[in-house]
Amino acid sequence: MRVLGIETSCDETAASVVGLREGAAPEILSNVVLSQIEEHAAFGGVVPEIAARAHVEALDGIIEAALADSDISLAEIDAIAATAGPGLVGGLIVGLMTAKAIAAATGKPLIAVNHLEGHALTARLTDGLDFPYLLLLVSGGHTQIVLVRGVGDYQRWATTIDDALGEAFDKTAKMLGLPYPGGPNVEKTAANGDAKRFAFPRPMKGEARPDFSFSGLKTAVRQAATAIAPLSEQDVADICASFQAAVSDALGDRVRRSLVRFREEYPDVKTPALVVAGGVAANREIRSTLETLCAGHGFSFIAPPHVLCTDNAAMIAWAGIERIRAGLVEPGAMDFVPRSRWPLDSISAPMIGSGRRGAKA
Ligand code: KG4
Ligand code: ZN
Repeated sequence: MRVLGIETSCDETAASVVGLREGAAPEILSNVVLSQIEEHAAFGGVVPEIAARAHVEALDGIIEAALADSDISLAEIDAIAATAGPGLVGGLIVGLMTAKAIAAATGKPLIAVNHLEGHALTARLTDGLDFPYLLLLVSGGHTQIVLVRGVGDYQRWATTIDDALGEAFDKTAKMLGLPYPGGPNVEKTAANGDAKRFAFPRPMKGEARPDFSFSGLKTAVRQAATAIAPLSEQDVADICASFQAAVSDALGDRVRRSLVRFREEYPDVKTPALVVAGGVAANREIRSTLETLCAGHGFSFIAPPHVLCTDNAAMIAWAGIERIRAGLVEPGAMDFVPRSRWPLDSISAPMIGSGRRGAKA
């Protein structure tokens, strides 16, 4: 089985072909990602209209490149999977309509994929992980812990009550005058700083509910920076290091609750796993905090390669394969409309104010 995946939910235009042969491990036959970072950098964040236009201009060529790289013609593809939400609606329309056009022209099935499901199932593509497991998704638009019980079967255990973690990194960077995207620059700058200089709060630490919060930390950073302005290079480095330490500490405390809950609910799972996904998963300090935490609780820690942690189309193609195998794809169905909001777990109530508007997933 070979599936073409298309991803356009935020500022990456991506296409990929993933194949699965009976009895063999899945194979990523191509994985093309075009980042729009330069188009948006001048504005300090993603501009939805610019993103949608850039997707229109790039997508055909990216799909052609993904097919060429995989050495597979469109005729040999079994289905077309595209991100149908959540994300910026302009980009979603571009990707989903392109997928529908290809599906209609070739007579192949269309699979409308939830972007978060793509992140959630990536560890099965890379590591062949069995259900159930825990997913920690930490990106620019999401901070969630999700119980992954099966394809299409998810339960959100924790989410942010205000900012997403990537957003907290990006806003901190902006406040300190570091360039966009903020996360990698905060990490780089923190390497030269003193993490003990500022005692920033660890939001929610010790609370029984498992959710996340980062906006108070952001405010504390602003107050500290204002109090000692103008900032020297060393001040900026010390703030970054202290911020990163606070984030890692708070995150570890929050994730711990869900590890304990998993143990209680699944005492028979011998080697439970925590999978991490999203751009923030690239952060070394956060990774090492999570690694230590998992080791202490007997969990294996699975971090897919960086290119598969951040937005890509291989995860969308793979989610398509998983949905076909699970019998969840209706042949000929073309009526799916893009959804800017599309929670993985439709039962847990949305958290008021969670995630940023026009969220990047
Ligand atoms: O998954 P991603 O590429 O896009 C989505 O949000 O879907 O994540 C981007 C986010 C941005 O907020 C970026 O600042 C953050 O991930 N990020 C990092 C690092 N690299 C990317 N945050 C902290 N440390 C990093 N090294
Ligand atoms: Zn994403």
